[in-house]
Amino acid sequence: MNLVEVRGLKVHFPIRRGLFFDRTIGHVKAVDGVDFDLEHGKTYGLVGESGCGKSTLGRAILRLIEPTAGSVIFDGVDIAGLQGEKLRKARKRMQMIFQDPLSSLDPRQNIESIITEGIDAHDLLDSRKQSRARIVELLEAVGLSAAALRRYPHEFSGGQRQRIGIARALAVEPDLIVADEPVSALDVSVQAQVVNLLEKLQDSLNLTFLVIAHDLAVVRHISDTVGVMYLGALVEEASSDDLYAEPLHPYTRSLMSAVPVPDPDVEDRRERILLPGDLPSPANPPSGCRFHTRCPWRQPERCDTEIPELRVLRPTHKVACHYAEQIEAGTIRPKSADEVAADQGVYVAATGGLDAKDLLDAGKDMPLPQQGF
Ligand SMILES: Nc1ncnc2c1ncn2[C@@H]1O[C@H](COP(=O)(O)OP(=O)(O)O)[C@@H](O)[C@H]1O
Ligand code: SF4
Ligand SMILES: [Mg+2]
Repeated sequence: MNLVEVRGLKVHFPIRRGLFFDRTIGHVKAVDGVDFDLEHGKTYGLVGESGCGKSTLGRAILRLIEPTAGSVIFDGVDIAGLQGEKLRKARKRMQMIFQDPLSSLDPRQNIESIITEGIDAHDLLDSRKQSRARIVELLEAVGLSAAALRRYPHEFSGGQRQRIGIARALAVEPDLIVADEPVSALDVSVQAQVVNLLEKLQDSLNLTFLVIAHDLAVVRHISDTVGVMYLGALVEEASSDDLYAEPLHPYTRSLMSAVPVPDPDVEDRRERILLPGDLPSPANPPSGCRFHTRCPWRQPERCDTEIPELRVLRPTHKVACHYAEQIEAGTIRPKSADEVAADQGVYVAATGGLDAKDLLDAGKDMPLPQQGF
């Protein structure tokens, strides 16, 4: 059963210019036609490099941003039409966990009042005593003790603060949690602990999770299904096992080829797919298949002119590529990054251009190129 069904979702931000007259000179197509389902009690991992529209998509699902087009059906109801009390009730069922727990926790409030806020706002408990007991229970659920109640956010480590953010989200007993880069700001050693905590909570509370990350490794173990986004659209979606065992879309293949393998023999033989050029601007996405300006498998027909649908290749595997079958069978061979760049008339530095690992590592603050191809 699906808790959330997203259909044809678009979020376009207007680009405005002009000193006296506010003229709209274009749109950033942050999310540009996305369809997917969040199954009840499961985890959906959404990955893609910085700027591809993951956060915008997550916020549009919670209606923190108004979509430009499309629908979000939450438990059978289109949330676009909700107002007032009905919207407030729906919001209580959907919570968000943010990347940077420090900036999302009010520094002047102690932990008790931070977590109480959600409970109070929704009148979940009547007495203060009851509420204190509930907060202690929540803190224990996220691995913290009652001693945290009187302390302030700055007194905790990054990992502990993220645990507090999780406790705050859980306080209103939500059905859906959107976790936007929940571990990106944390030390690598702490990341796994927080990911494990999310997984444990999901099992025990039967939550539905949308976990957003720019790092494939983060979502791998907790996700039932993984969706890969490129420039505002999903290019591949599969069960986590299928996606990691056999990525089919050229973009996913390049991302995956950048992830080191622990076995040294396999690591030596690992084929790395380098992508030429920068991520095109979402204000001016390439025609046809959006990935065609960087795709090593691009063909002279269809790729530049026809938008590929996200289509079912196998029961748990969807791909948006005209040539997915031929690529899988190996009947179409990839070109090198330099050849792709030469085809597109793009200059590539002597290093062979950016590779997917650099793009992933670049994380949140990578500046976006202003010009498309
Ligand atoms: N409020 C906004 N106004 C204008 N452009 C925005 C806004 N929020 C995001 N964008 C743009 O939309 C695109 C997608 O951003 P975002 O959803 O944050 O991507 P991601 O989370 O994958 O890094 C980017 O080009 C970003 O600059
Ligand atoms: S449709 Fe063409 S350009 Fe797009 S991913 Fe497939 S082969 Fe590459
Ligand atoms: Mg983001």
